[in-house]
Amino acid sequence: MHLNHPELVDLLKKAYSAEKAAAFAYQGHAGSVKDKEEKVAIYQIEIDEWNHRKEVLQIMNDFDIPISKWYEVKFHIIGKVISGSCYVIGWFMPFYFAGRLESGNVCEYFRMMHFFHSLGITKYDQVLYEMGIKEKEHEVYFLEKIKNSKLLPFFEKVFSWGTGKGFNDIDLDKKYPVEQSNQYCKK
Ligand SMILES: [Fe+2]
Ligand SMILES: [Fe+2]
Repeated sequence: MHLNHPELVDLLKKAYSAEKAAAFAYQGHAGSVKDKEEKVAIYQIEIDEWNHRKEVLQIMNDFDIPISKWYEVKFHIIGKVISGSCYVIGWFMPFYFAGRLESGNVCEYFRMMHFFHSLGITKYDQVLYEMGIKEKEHEVYFLEKIKNSKLLPFFEKVFSWGTGKGFNDIDLDKKYPVEQSNQYCKK
């Protein structure tokens, strides 16, 4: 079956490769922290990202969407650079920028859901919902780690993410069920 929606096709290709960048980045992040619990938690997040990559690929395969070589190379490099940088930029920044990135990724999966709905396709609601919610859980984990840091107010001002600002409208404490989750990320 052909997926007649260029924006959605591109979003899928990009997400597939960006999940690899995230997984690479978390390898460096987990490697660079000293705390055992943090290492384990970040390693679990890395596994989540590899799973997302698999799930996105399954959707792409349903529509014979090829993997983008360009995105694969680009995000390979990005992931490796971030991974290496985790060892030299201190403790705070890897947590901060991971959380900020996750915050933005949440809506990518709900945007895909909106695009699929515009084509009358609801088959992927559950998997997209689960991926979006998982990214939200990642965001919350990173925010929890840094929310009391003295550096946060400054970073929040400059980079527009923190306890008072984010890039999605999901609240894990009162989340919508999957059937209503297309209301997320409408703005
Ligand atoms: Fe992910
Ligand atoms: Fe994530």
